[in-house]
Amino acid sequence: MVSPGSTVLCVTDLCVALHDADRVAHTTGTVSDDGHDVLSSAWRPAIRGVSFTVNHGEILSIVGESASGKTLSMYATFRLLDPGARATSGTVELFGQRVDAARGGEVVRKSGESRRRRVANGDDEWRATLGSRVGFLFQDPIGSWTPQFTIGHQAGEALDEHTDLPADEIERRVRDALGEVKLPKRGFGAFVSSLSRGEAQRAMLAAAIANVPDLLIADEPLTGLDATSAASVLALLRDMQEKRGMAMVFITHDLALAASFSDRIAIMYGGRLVETAPTHELIRHPRHPYTAGLIGALPMVGRDRLRPVRGSPPNLWDERRGCSFAPRCDFAADVCEDVPPSTVVGEAASVACWLQDELTLPGLPVGS
Ligand SMILES: Nc1ncnc2c1ncn2[C@@H]1O[C@H](COP(=O)(O)OP(=O)(O)OP(=O)(O)O)[C@@H](O)[C@H]1O
Ligand code: SF4
Ligand SMILES: [Mg+2]
Repeated sequence: MVSPGSTVLCVTDLCVALHDADRVAHTTGTVSDDGHDVLSSAWRPAIRGVSFTVNHGEILSIVGESASGKTLSMYATFRLLDPGARATSGTVELFGQRVDAARGGEVVRKSGESRRRRVANGDDEWRATLGSRVGFLFQDPIGSWTPQFTIGHQAGEALDEHTDLPADEIERRVRDALGEVKLPKRGFGAFVSSLSRGEAQRAMLAAAIANVPDLLIADEPLTGLDATSAASVLALLRDMQEKRGMAMVFITHDLALAASFSDRIAIMYGGRLVETAPTHELIRHPRHPYTAGLIGALPMVGRDRLRPVRGSPPNLWDERRGCSFAPRCDFAADVCEDVPPSTVVGEAASVACWLQDELTLPGLPVGS
């Protein structure tokens, strides 16, 4: 059991490197005395010092533009990285079990193996915790299922492996969960190839519901769903969270959705978390210029046109000296071009901007 208010997941200073396919060596180099891989020059830093916590019963949204590193950070957190990515440092504490993200941070994917199935393939203790207490709604609902097995079989896999429930009880739970997500009756015996994208996404949600997780990782769970299906998935997520006190990490590029849904928001830019704060505080009083830019870009009644943040985001693996937001920032000073700002962690919020104490940035009057 998780006691109210306790920390469910704590990620500290997580760094991930990506393999540069244009460089020759694909080896990880040597292994140092403390057991860490010493990566060759073919690896470039991509995720840089990501830290966040999620508490019991809390929804944390991670918001950022496409390719800012949201999914990559999550895969590194749970040791689900593809061979082209490596965690290079950081610690992850999940329900009190603390692991070094850079040791055993990559699980080799067998041919044809889906991301869901890979959850069951880490070391024993970690695998047991993921299988029994963490639910995943992956961004790619089709590729997340193994094509050769039925939905019903895969949705019941974690219960089968990590509980003593008899097979008929597992089947009942999975069928009930499939009913809750309004999948057609054939859902239990279907292969993923016969499901639409939206149905495959709702089947993922059913697998999570059947397993009753303490923590749900929902990575863009509404992508590809029509408005009605999206609303029903959102309602189901809320219901699960409220009734079961489940904690959730909700990953999205949609700040308005995150603001309507979460207790706290973490803003990701160029592989870093640049601002984390309680939702109302972040929307009313943003302290990072990128956050203020995202708020200014929200479509709203009374705004005659959209005001997107100018410029485009960096590639994660670009070499850069100063603040990665500087080329798009209206406030960039000399120091911003030369030295990356460190993250200042306050009681409830954290911000990485040299000028955070000097700027007064416009927000929106919410929650008052
Ligand atoms: N295993 C990998 N090997 C090489 N590059 C990778 C790997 N995984 C992710 N990347 C690259 O890292 C960058 C960040 O990817 P990520 O999937 O985290 O983005 P994201 O923020 O989740 O974006 P989106 O909102 O589009 O899902 C992308 O440019 C992606 O191509
Ligand atoms: S550190 Fe400088 S460039 Fe970066 S967001 Fe702050 S003011 Fe803008
Ligand atoms: Mg993603």
